[in-house]
Formats: sequence, structure tokens, C-alpha cells
Amino acid sequence: MYLSSFQLTNFRNYKNFESSFTNGLIILTGQNASGKTNLLEAVQLLSLSKSFRARSEYDLILFGMDFAKILGTIQKNSHQTKLDITIDSFTSKNQKIIKIDGLKSRAFDLIGELVTVLFSPEDINLINSSPSLRRRYLDVVICQIDKGYCRNLSEYKKVLINRNQLLANIKDGYARKQELGFWNEKLIDLGSKIIVERQKALKFFNTRLSEIYNDICATKDQKLRIIYKPNLPLLPDSDIKELFEQELNNKYEREIYKTYTLVGPHRDNFVFELNKKRLAIFGSRGECRSSILALKSAELDFIEKNLGERPILLLDDVFSELDEKRRNHMFELVRRQQTLITTADFVGLEVGFVREAQVLQIKNGEVTNK
Ligand SMILES: Nc1ncnc2c1ncn2[C@@H]1O[C@H](COP(=O)(O)OP(=O)(O)OP(=O)(O)O)[C@@H](O)[C@H]1O
Ligand SMILES: [Mg+2]
Repeated sequence: MYLSSFQLTNFRNYKNFESSFTNGLIILTGQNASGKTNLLEAVQLLSLSKSFRARSEYDLILFGMDFAKILGTIQKNSHQTKLDITIDSFTSKNQKIIKIDGLKSRAFDLIGELVTVLFSPEDINLINSSPSLRRRYLDVVICQIDKGYCRNLSEYKKVLINRNQLLANIKDGYARKQELGFWNEKLIDLGSKIIVERQKALKFFNTRLSEIYNDICATKDQKLRIIYKPNLPLLPDSDIKELFEQELNNKYEREIYKTYTLVGPHRDNFVFELNKKRLAIFGSRGECRSSILALKSAELDFIEKNLGERPILLLDDVFSELDEKRRNHMFELVRRQQTLITTADFVGLEVGFVREAQVLQIKNGEVTNK
């Protein structure tokens, strides 16, 4: 799949932007604050219907304007799909209108139409920030290849809200313990499915990570793994549902005290280990960077394995942070699918690499094809 044309109206610092895109390498270049990351943000928004950095969707509308629009044409084999997102500051409730081939659609329907992998320098935070960031990362990856997972996740979140409310009501004497049964059943059913899919995804990642890492670092025997630290004390032969129920029973008193659900995949963690040592604790900056690069590379493979085609790769300013070995790995990687790269200058980029790319020069939200 690739994005064959792209159009922005009043998006961030773009009044009007329109371009067709090659199914290869696209370099977005320009000075700091010219609008490079804004363009990647718009592409990713068309993919996930959410921005990776906006606090509010209104922030995406060009200052002084009352709507923003993103239009993209996706090419899959010989089939075209037109995606359209409008963010409107007039409508208070449905401020985001999504259309697929002209038909009004839900955010859920959009998922999978344009599949992207974003890699930015901030991704290094995945290694040592909170578990919630890592959960979100993995959830977005799995959602893009499995709508059922996405549906389960959203149902699970609703169940959690209801169950937590019921725990509060039981604590205050407005509800009885027996009423939990209904929500426990749903929690266990949906939660177990989420755990199984996370296990499967991580299993695949772990078949690829070490090989990619060694390739990046020109080493042979480094072992990079993501270790699943589920909230349930899972063993290889555990019956997940049974264990889930047991844990809920064990934690009942504490849950009532906290009025919060303490058992389930919303409290899972994943940690990165290099040669059986926690990267977050022992990893050097370079080891962490290589590991994240390996992770993104494995993510592309994971999506390809499940969808049968490679997603679009979005690289935000990553070349400046890479040394020669890692840059070389990157040069190989970007050739394997449509890739959009932002860079303030061409330092570190091979001449041949630039020559074969479509280069867009960006200046204050205005673009010229070079
Ligand atoms: N809603 C908005 N309306 C107008 N301008 C905006 C809006 N939101 C952000 N901007 C501006 O867009 C500009 C470009 O931002 P962007 O992050 O895309 O820059 P960049 O080219 O990636 O720069 P850098 O090289 O520093 O990463 C910034 O000056 C920012 O203030
Ligand atoms: Mg930027």
C-alpha cells in the first residue's frame, strides 16, 4: 500500500498543500519550524484518526481558521481508496468527520485503510517511561492488523469504567458483591483475549529482534527481547481465564478499598532486555537507540506478516541521531516500502539516496517539489 496523493487545508501551518507522492522515498526538508513534522502528523492522523502529539484536535486547525481538512488517496494493488478527515471547530460534539470514499465513517472503520509505522527520536522513551506508554504502543500496532483486537480493547475499557463504578457503589453500600459477577465475566472474557493477542505479537517480535539488532550493530551474538510482564502470574501452561478469576477473588477486598480494578491487562507491562539485562537500567544510549530501531524494523515485518503488505514508514528526524552503521541499516530499510523522511538538512544522507527520492522543500507551510 502507499499514499498516492495528499492534500491539506488549514492544517497546522499549512494553508493549502497538495502533492502526489511516489511509491518510494519522499524526503521532506526545510528549516526548523517549517512544517515537516506537521506533515507526518497529518499522514498519521489519516491512518489512526488521532494525532501523536496534539493535546486537542482544535490545535490542529491553522490559527485563525475554523476547520482543518486532510485528504489522501491510498493505493492498494490496483484499488484506490479516498480518505478524508475534517476537524471542525463549529460542531461541539462531532468535531471530527471521517469519510471513506465519500461515505461518513467511524474512526474504527478507518483503522487498517492506511497503515503506518512512525519512528521519531522520542520513541526512545518507550524503553524507560511508564508501562502505559508501552501498552499503548503495542495496542496501536496490534489494532492496525486486527480490528477484533481493537473492538475488544475498546469494550474492555468500557467494562473497566463500569466495574470501577460498581466497586465504588459496593464500598458505599449502594450495591452488592454478587452484582460484580456480570462485569467479572466480561472482564475475564475480553481481558483474556487481549492477553493472548499481546503474547502472540511479542512472540513474533522476539523471533526478529535479535537478528535485526545484530544486523544494525554488525554484531553476532547480542540478544534483544521484549519480556511480557503480565499483571496475571501467568505460567506457560496456565489457563488464563481460571487464573484471572482466582486473582479477582484474591484481590476483592483490596479492589473495594481502592475502588479500582487491580487485575487485568490494563496493568500489564513489557520490558526490553539486552543479553538478559534490563535496557532501562543498564542500556547505554546507543544500545537503546539500536534497540528502538530494531523494534520499528520488527514492527514493519509484523505488519507485513499479518496484512501481506508493508505499511508506510514515517521517519521524523531520525537520521541526525544515528551513527554510520545504523544509518546504513536505515538506508536498506527505507527502500522496502513507501517512506516519508523529514530532515532539516542532507547531512548524513547518501547522494544516491537523495537522488532517487522525491524531495519536497518546505518553507513556512509552503512546499515546492525539488
Ligand atoms: N494550529 C497551528 N496553526 C499554525 N501554525 C501552527 C499550528 N500548530 C503548530 N504550528 C506551527 O507549525 C510550525 C512547524 O512545526 P513542525 O513541528 O512541523 O516543524 P518542523 O519543520 O518539524 O521543525 P523541526 O525541524 O524543528 O522539527 C511551528 O512553528 C508551529 O508553531
Ligand atoms: Mg520536526
